[in-house]
Amino acid sequence: MANIIDGKLISQNLKDRVKAEVAELKKDGIESCLAVIIVGSDPASRVYVNNKKKACEYTGIKSLEYALPQETTQQELLELIEKLNGDDSVNGILCQLPLPKQIDEQAVINAISPKKDVDAFHPSNVGHIMIGDHVMLPCTPAGVIEMIDSCGIDLTSKNCVVIGRSNIVGKPMAMLLLQKNATVTVCHSKTKDLAEITRRADVIVSAVGKINTVTADMVKDWAVVIDVAINRKDDGKLCGDVDFEKVKEKASFITPVPGGVGPMTIAVLMKNTLNATKNQNGR
Ligand code: GUN
Repeated sequence: MANIIDGKLISQNLKDRVKAEVAELKKDGIESCLAVIIVGSDPASRVYVNNKKKACEYTGIKSLEYALPQETTQQELLELIEKLNGDDSVNGILCQLPLPKQIDEQAVINAISPKKDVDAFHPSNVGHIMIGDHVMLPCTPAGVIEMIDSCGIDLTSKNCVVIGRSNIVGKPMAMLLLQKNATVTVCHSKTKDLAEITRRADVIVSAVGKINTVTADMVKDWAVVIDVAINRKDDGKLCGDVDFEKVKEKASFITPVPGGVGPMTIAVLMKNTLNATKNQNGR
């Protein structure tokens, strides 16, 4: 049976390291501050934003919440971002996605100052990730790498298969795995015979958002299986893309949902906010 990778514990260790550094900065009169914007009342977004605020409280990072109504215009949102960009007391800006349909998400992402872009979604930061000199790490992919590292797994020459090609997870995940010297295949909804590709994988990272995307017959013995998705079952319980109960009998390491990648994403967000604060203060 696989080792279950404890995302809660690994993220706790990372948050504790951030907390210690935030306290050091405070001694020098520097307060780290994250502005979180949420538009509308999507229940999942509300849960994510509340968890981000809780992590700020824990690490000693000041958090400001801007909860805007569903009917907010793009112009109003861009004006708020402009104000936060120019406010030296704000180090990080995060606008929770998805946004209501009257707002162009990419225009909003482009408007956030790259220096304060703690999600690493701005094209400038995406470019830095691509060439491997990133300042800001993409939160979920960096959290996955941190988990793999903490299990002592060397990715050099490993066949890694990423399922999903989103700008938030799939594409940056592939880049970070490449930087770890893995051979990377990115699969998506138009991929032919996914199972044939995943069966050759030493490491599978699934970020689709569909229950049972990865079943036991698709996984080779001793593979490392990382489940990025958070899906809700008919009974209301959370689960990932992976058929956890059966796949854990074959894998060497596997992440649970919940308690796997989710907490890591938030811990990396704290690390990014700390790093943004340090950069903005010449540290
Ligand atoms: N929506 C789902 N995941 C994310 C994320 O990592 N950052 C933001 N801003 N919105 C999200």
